[in-house]
Amino acid sequence: MSTSAAAAIEIRVCHSLEDCEACVAMEKAVWQTDDVELVPSAMLRVVAETGGQVLGAFDGARMIGFTFAIVGCHTVVGRAEPFLHSHMTAVLREYENQGIGRRLKFFQRQDALARGIRLVRWTFDPFQLKNAWFNVMRLGAVLRSYLPNFYGITSSPLHGGIPTDRLVAEWQLDSQRVRAAVEGRLPPVPGPEAVRISLPNDIATQAKANPAAAVHIQDAMRPQFLRQFAAGYAVTAIEPAGPQTNYVLEPWKDA
Ligand SMILES: CC(C)(COP(=O)(O)OP(=O)(O)OC[C@H]1O[C@@H](n2cnc3c(N)ncnc32)[C@H](O)[C@@H]1OP(=O)(O)O)[C@@H](O)C(=O)NCCC(=O)NCCS
Repeated sequence: MSTSAAAAIEIRVCHSLEDCEACVAMEKAVWQTDDVELVPSAMLRVVAETGGQVLGAFDGARMIGFTFAIVGCHTVVGRAEPFLHSHMTAVLREYENQGIGRRLKFFQRQDALARGIRLVRWTFDPFQLKNAWFNVMRLGAVLRSYLPNFYGITSSPLHGGIPTDRLVAEWQLDSQRVRAAVEGRLPPVPGPEAVRISLPNDIATQAKANPAAAVHIQDAMRPQFLRQFAAGYAVTAIEPAGPQTNYVLEPWKDA
């Protein structure tokens, strides 16, 4: 697809049953899970009508990307603060790497800020290094918590039949880091206190081809993240390093 064709993709809010059914078709196409693991269209309609978000990317009438988020609430200094938990984001394979995922997330940010919501969170698989790059370097999210086997073992080939360990992306929508990302700037280069957790570039492919070996790598990675996060470190950058990719962690100071 040309740059101008990618720019012609429309991003908009979804409310209709037809749009919600198109999201379910996207879930099937991207995650290929058993039907019992799908988020059904009825629930997506509830999400859209109860302060959550269902957003679609459309090539003409065809949905080619979507993201949806439910409303969460946590307590900050004794006050209840709403946030969005973004449960799924996907772009059809033939439309990937053309900035459509970023446009969906930036639309999500604008819509949230317009409603006074300043935090969006989501989980992702640490082995999906593209997602790590996208979340940290392109969106300006930071990673400060790790959830071992969060969803249990799922039927999705994307998850490779191994424990679904997840990193939590925190997207502080009006932070300096995120505003810089919206303007197309990369996060600051990490300082001398940085520590690194490295994975082979092809870890996601390895996980599908050899799940037993991937579990071994996961077992070695999990305590490193848990230890660094417990010590107050956060992932602030993703660093290509030859055949490996580094998660770069620093003592976390920003809000
Ligand atoms: C994650 C996803 C939504 C991103 O959508 P997208 O439209 O491809 O995103 P963008 O084009 O805006 O950005 C992708 C970035 O990743 C980069 N990228 C692509 N492959 C990569 C890789 N193997 N390693 C690192 N970065 C990679 C692209 O170059 C681009 O960054 P750049 O702008 O610096 O060049 C999409 O890949 C997807 O649907 N994945 C499958 C479902 C999924 O895992 N969803 C997220 C968890 S719910």
